[in-house]
Amino acid sequence: MLSSYADLSGKSAVVTGGSRGIGARTARMLAAQGVRVCVIGRDKNALDDVVAEISAAGGTAIGAVADVTSAAELAAARDQVETEFGRVDILAAFAGGMGYPTPISELTEQFWRRVLDSDLTSVFLTVQAFLPGLLAQGSGSIITMASAAGRQPSQANLAYGVANAGVVMLTRHLATEVGPRGIRVNALAPSSILTEKVAANMPEAVQQQVAAAHPLRRLGLPEDVAEAALFLASDASSYLSGITIDVAGGRITN
Ligand SMILES: NC(=O)c1ccc[n+]([C@@H]2O[C@H](COP(=O)([O-])OP(=O)(O)OC[C@H]3O[C@@H](n4cnc5c(N)ncnc54)[C@H](OP(=O)(O)O)[C@@H]3O)[C@@H](O)[C@H]2O)c1
Repeated sequence: MLSSYADLSGKSAVVTGGSRGIGARTARMLAAQGVRVCVIGRDKNALDDVVAEISAAGGTAIGAVADVTSAAELAAARDQVETEFGRVDILAAFAGGMGYPTPISELTEQFWRRVLDSDLTSVFLTVQAFLPGLLAQGSGSIITMASAAGRQPSQANLAYGVANAGVVMLTRHLATEVGPRGIRVNALAPSSILTEKVAANMPEAVQQQVAAAHPLRRLGLPEDVAEAALFLASDASSYLSGITIDVAGGRITN
């Protein structure tokens, strides 16, 4: 980890999608800065592993099992974390990831609705669950997870692109609405990030092709996204709100 943000120490964070991939790396890196972290996901075993790893490294973490497409499950997770930590300062709504390439001819209504639920409605529901606490304390940093697929057409399926473009607008709208109440809202839009899942599913030759399509000539790493998340969580970005950071190796067209 390259960065160090003294102001993060003692704060508390919720990271949805914290059981693996980008969310798990972000949770570990926040904990290393002295942040108490609650990781949310559906896979209890994977959450337990992340919590154990953070604890073994001297950090503080708890896990909450919840499907982020369910308002009721998010409300239960919110109650758990607010009871254990007292407050939430940083909300990282990172869960999602239904970007599998699917041609429009094979994109069923059911799949469309699942992707919108998983990658857009989930962010709305997560924000809705935790916003009352943030508003009551009059401070906080919300970080949403968009995607390069929401910034320009890509190999990912249409529903995923639309969902992530929606996350960008949700972020801008929310930033306008809650900025006067002391809350910042920003998005991250990663391009191809070499998570465990991507490493397992993308053949080496394709990884090289994708890397070559980025000006920085490599795939992104989970820590590249986590570093940007730490910056947005910290007061180092205290005058930034409503923006989307393209964590994309220079591959930007907007
Ligand atoms: N990797 C990339 O190249 C890339 C690029 C752009 C954007 N992103 C975005 O970054 C985020 C994280 O992706 P990743 O690559 O780290 O994926 P990943 O390794 O597959 O992890 C996905 C995470 O999201 C959680 N999740 C998914 N749906 C959920 C649901 N309905 N309820 C609760 N948790 C749910 C998973 O938890 P459980 O497994 O425990 O349920 C897991 O922790 C996603 O939003 C994805 O769209 C990724």
